[in-house]
Amino acid sequence: MWVADMDFPVAQEIQQAILERAAHPAFGYTAIPDTSYEAVSDWLSRRHSWTVSREWVLFCPGVVPSIALSINAFTLPGDKIIVQAPVYPPFFNVISDCGRQVVVNKLIYEDGRYRIDFDDLKNKIDRNTSMLLLCSPHNPVGRLWSSDELLELGRICIERNVIILSDEIHHDLAFPGLKHFPIASLSNALSENTVTLLAPSKTFNLAGLHTSITVISNELLRRRFYSVLNSLSLRSINIFGLAATETAYSSGDEWVDQMMNYVAGNFEFLNHYLSTKIPEVVAIRPESTYLVWLDCSGLSVDYSKIGEFMVKKARLALNDGASFGPGGENFQRMNIACPRVRLQEAFNRLEKAVSEIR
Ligand SMILES: Cc1ncc(COP(=O)(O)O)c(C=O)c1O
Repeated sequence: MWVADMDFPVAQEIQQAILERAAHPAFGYTAIPDTSYEAVSDWLSRRHSWTVSREWVLFCPGVVPSIALSINAFTLPGDKIIVQAPVYPPFFNVISDCGRQVVVNKLIYEDGRYRIDFDDLKNKIDRNTSMLLLCSPHNPVGRLWSSDELLELGRICIERNVIILSDEIHHDLAFPGLKHFPIASLSNALSENTVTLLAPSKTFNLAGLHTSITVISNELLRRRFYSVLNSLSLRSINIFGLAATETAYSSGDEWVDQMMNYVAGNFEFLNHYLSTKIPEVVAIRPESTYLVWLDCSGLSVDYSKIGEFMVKKARLALNDGASFGPGGENFQRMNIACPRVRLQEAFNRLEKAVSEIR
């Protein structure tokens, strides 16, 4: 219950689109048809009230590769890049692997909820800071940043000349009734200062197809990104990823809505289970994503041994919170995009293991 993909079968329409593409006997290079661009922009308009022009959209081989491409396109070796920990672990590695410095603007955790520390953010930006790598919605804490929070963050970055690289891979996974705001959609100034990374991979369980989308309205930034993409000969797109993306964004609405309803039910199930039977572990209520951030500080286990306790005693493979950077200690991340019987089994195991150390 760790890596972020789902134990649900891919939507029938997407399976069918891949089978149909596979039935065509030529698997050579391809040009991206207009219909694929239209599917992306219609989805963003329909689901996120975001109007995106065709020329802003670039198909890419993945979100993490696009983070590396963006770092190389928009920052210089040695520059400082801000991340808001605890956060998706590759953020740290990609920045250092590109020869830039990671600067942590730690999130504030108070009364079971996370928020951005704007004062710390202002203090952390200096003249060597060229980028903020935003995770929106936030993995692992599950926050959907509000438009007010995003506007404040954007104001600070624009004022200090810091480009926002917004990883919005979890953009479609808001819990029922809640809304994700693409930061670039909030104002023209923000659109011009932001590079947005999206993908159908988390939403539709397609991560193995390695297809993502980068949206850049600012022509200068787009040209710089494109020249790095081109220099690495990465413009060509996976034909199956393209077929899946177009179909997902054309006809996947109902599938996503049903899937998120089911995930929300899973969360209520686990939250009830924990509060009634394992009060030592507290789940942070997610607003988005199918990843649940579990506060394990009530367990009588040293924080450095919680991961080992989960694997060896509870027989659960989760993500150890420490790998998400500062603020992750004492936490575990659990993937709940699975049939409820599996959750039931997981919590039965956890309850048994916890009862042995009470
Ligand atoms: C925030 C975030 N970005 C990127 C990725 C992975 O993106 P990709 O597989 O397209 O490189 C994940 C996967 O869990 C993620 O949570």
